[in-house]
Amino acid sequence: MKKVTTASLLAMKQNGEKITVITAYDASFAKLFDEQGIDVTLIGDSLGMVLQGQDDTLPVSVDDIAYHTRSVRKGTQRAFVVADMPFMSYATREQTFQSAGKLMAAGASMVKLEGGSWLADTFRDLNDRGVPVCGHLGLTPQSVHVFGGFKVQGRSELQAEKILEEALILEKAGMQLLVLECIPTALGQKISQALSIPVIGIGAGPHTDGQVLVMHDMLGISANYMPKFSKNYLAQCGDIRSAVSQYIEEVRDGRFPDAEHSFN
Ligand code: KIV
Repeated sequence: MKKVTTASLLAMKQNGEKITVITAYDASFAKLFDEQGIDVTLIGDSLGMVLQGQDDTLPVSVDDIAYHTRSVRKGTQRAFVVADMPFMSYATREQTFQSAGKLMAAGASMVKLEGGSWLADTFRDLNDRGVPVCGHLGLTPQSVHVFGGFKVQGRSELQAEKILEEALILEKAGMQLLVLECIPTALGQKISQALSIPVIGIGAGPHTDGQVLVMHDMLGISANYMPKFSKNYLAQCGDIRSAVSQYIEEVRDGRFPDAEHSFN
């Protein structure tokens, strides 16, 4: 069994193999996902909403993410483990190093930060210190109050151009993976083609290099609402292992996401 690495993820993009990603927060689910062959597990700050019952991700702390990262790491043998840097944990250079250091020490192999070109120096700083970085553009939930709600981004030509430009700037600054959330399918395709690094979509259409879902959404057990881009695989398959395996299969063969789970 070969461990997934930044190099193997890049090779998957180059070979046209889709990358499968799911959020995980504990050792038992991490082990189950790993056994089914998921490529990447993400300790997302979505845990604020699906585990803690918060309205958004803003109250999540670095210690929260570190706690769940330690658990996920224990359950993982093959998958690549990415941990979210929570809201305001990378507002200053000092904070960035402290937060990233804690998450890498907890077992992450990469950290994910939300935001555009203003993060370029931060990405360079982290890379220089041995921390691989994943970006997150489009609908960045930590900025929900700036957006005025969880809304599709990049629908106007100007907005779309800006997101593409930011992606290119961050790639140049050392970003090795990018999550694109809630953007039109055509923009997801354009950015994935423009970048050399793997691009993972969630509500970004079928043409990105991989897909990510929040595990509670794909199992249909989220307390609140089910986003349009998500799909309840447990309802379709009847048990959790089959649900995860079906999700992986549908991403790999391009059946997920279809038009019903994408935006124009
Ligand atoms: O926090 C999270 O789970 C995420 C995914 C939705 C990509 O950032």
